[in-house]
Amino acid sequence: MRRLDAEWNLIEQSCDSELGRHYEGLFTQGNGYIHVRGSYEEGLIDSRQDREYDRKPANVTLEQHEKEKTKWGTYIPGVVGKHPLLMTEMINLPYIFELKFMINGQWLDMDESNIANYTRWLSLKDGVLYREIEYVEGDAVRLAFRYSRFVSKSSKHIAIQRVEVKCLAGKASIETEAGINSGVRTNGFEHYLERKLEADADKAYAEIKTNGGNTVSMLSCLSMAAPDEEEENCTFKGVADAGRAYQKRTVNIACGQTVVVEKRIAFTTDRDLNETGTPAARAKEYLEEACEKSYERLFMEHEAVWNREWQAADIKIEGNETVQLASRMSVYQLIRCKPADDYRIAICAKGYAGEAYFGRYFWDTEISMLPFFLHTDAEAAKNLIRFRYETLDGARRNAANYGYTGARYAWESSVGGDEECANWQYADHEIHVTADVVYAIMHYVKATGDLGFLKDFGAEIMAETARYWCQRVDWSNDGSCHLLGVMGPDEYLPMTQDNTYTNNMVRYSLKETLHTLEWMKESYNECYHAFVNKISLEDSEIAEFAKVAEALVKGYDEKSEVILQSQDFLSYADIDFDEIWTDRSKYFGQHISQEKNYRSKALKQADLLELIMLFRDSFSDRQLEVNYDYYEPITTHDSSLSAAVHGILCSWMGRDASAAEFLERVISIDMAPEKKGAEAGIHIANCGGIWQMLIYGFAGLKSAMSSEELVLEPHLPQQIQSMEFPLTWRGNNYRIFINHNGYTLRAR
Ligand code: BGC
Repeated sequence: MRRLDAEWNLIEQSCDSELGRHYEGLFTQGNGYIHVRGSYEEGLIDSRQDREYDRKPANVTLEQHEKEKTKWGTYIPGVVGKHPLLMTEMINLPYIFELKFMINGQWLDMDESNIANYTRWLSLKDGVLYREIEYVEGDAVRLAFRYSRFVSKSSKHIAIQRVEVKCLAGKASIETEAGINSGVRTNGFEHYLERKLEADADKAYAEIKTNGGNTVSMLSCLSMAAPDEEEENCTFKGVADAGRAYQKRTVNIACGQTVVVEKRIAFTTDRDLNETGTPAARAKEYLEEACEKSYERLFMEHEAVWNREWQAADIKIEGNETVQLASRMSVYQLIRCKPADDYRIAICAKGYAGEAYFGRYFWDTEISMLPFFLHTDAEAAKNLIRFRYETLDGARRNAANYGYTGARYAWESSVGGDEECANWQYADHEIHVTADVVYAIMHYVKATGDLGFLKDFGAEIMAETARYWCQRVDWSNDGSCHLLGVMGPDEYLPMTQDNTYTNNMVRYSLKETLHTLEWMKESYNECYHAFVNKISLEDSEIAEFAKVAEALVKGYDEKSEVILQSQDFLSYADIDFDEIWTDRSKYFGQHISQEKNYRSKALKQADLLELIMLFRDSFSDRQLEVNYDYYEPITTHDSSLSAAVHGILCSWMGRDASAAEFLERVISIDMAPEKKGAEAGIHIANCGGIWQMLIYGFAGLKSAMSSEELVLEPHLPQQIQSMEFPLTWRGNNYRIFINHNGYTLRAR
């Protein structure tokens, strides 16, 4: 069997259809512009991709929905369309990697054919997906297949596939079909209004018009070099039928001979930033360019870009292969998702690797993923934050829908910023995201020193969100003000009073808003007045921001021991976890009715502890310890955002054994096959969490929110010998090496 580098490759050793969708999610390839799940090129014979079914709004963590054995997914962020029950959703586009083989009259199929020596692996270093198999037909015929494919990182409108078929025994007639398959639906729904399918000897072409108003063009070209071909078998045919446009060709090979099949694909849309010309014309140009280059040349160009990405982001870990691979898996997924040159999109909760959460944007970007980008690619971080500026009008519409002025960010944001969350509990009450956006702006500014961003984009977001907060609060007779009816990060308590996380995030965001306005007035007076005029900001409003920032209940002081998650927290019922949660391999939420859950002290995820992590300097060591010991035992970690936060805190407290348990947990979320965690997409916030656990937790980097200088206080656990990684801090690039004796830091 092939020996693969276990620190750089995600490997599937056998073909188990039970795990098919999990590996498809985990093996997702992409370049920020397009993302394609790691499905087999030929699909599976008895698995349909165009089945129609109703997907209703439900709790994504707990819902059960229809599943096929395989799930194709091709997503171009920003290409979304209306769904009758789910508002808008990211559209699953035609499958670009379709490439099927018929061998001596039988379709090659991973379930039905006789397959030996199966290995599939994603090379994280360069994002190439490989598959090696042997096809066996009785005693007579044996063919070795080696597949490889990648979505180009150097030319974002291109993808390339290659299959080498070597005849090991007997002889075979191999019929190949390769093209674009538009027979797909998104969550069971048909988003295509029109399809244009064409194919001829030179190419296969699919153009679709979506119900979101976009045009997407996809073009592919097959080449097939076989030895000793008979003239009659040399011709390519183009076929367009049943939703597919493809090219077809047959060759015969005999023992010892190899046939090499290559397919180049180009894709464009009418929403491509800074590009002119019709999608069809541009797709044709991109394909022509790709056809002029060899596979090797295209790969080298692509690989060079991945090399640069890894130079800026790879964490080398000595002494633990599993942690090493997990760190690279997370960094790979984050880099893949990074919309580096497009500020009109952010990173959706499933990392564009599946259709759960419908391609929407959550606080995950600001709180869980942003730190990775801040310290590896500041430009990408800037674009991610700028997305919130681009969608400020959507946030204004959300505020207006609730009867407020100002801006209110959506719990589940559409590409345009509008609230798309179908569950009122979250949509109405999980308001902390609006303050999290301001936290992230400040984090970006502090980590990069880019004050210009604050002036050009940040201030407007801040003032508009501050306006909203002033209306969302309720005042008491004693002069204090409150946020009532709030869901904090803990989604198992939907309507609490004065959630400490939310109140303190809001206080922080209002205070930073006041500082920013003052700074602009002093340093950029003209600019300040233009901005004040633009949004008609009155001095009396600014005075109100200050009043609310002061009067909003803080919920703790320096003497507090257990800090209440919300002011009414103690009124919720205590429950016996052991009695209710009988199968710990399943979510706690699957063992209890929502009604009971909503009145109990059972947390879905870090809430007060998330606040302590984000504002570490505002809490004493004792407060960290006491609150950890109070909240962790009643936290279910049903959300994938929870374990990393707890792991970081354990690391800071020197509780190495617990930190190790949380490390195992964060790794298993997408990587343990038995959990099938990646089926519906990658938990990309957890990928950011893994990075944070390694860098904030083990390396002990003080976040830019609490330190102007680059400060490290390593807490390396026993199972890791050393860590080495690059880090960008306020525009300077460093290389940091940590082992159990200390650390070194040098400029790079
Ligand atoms: C979590 C949220 C998170 C969302 C998207 C939910 O299960 O509770 O905190 O934002 O998933 O990842």
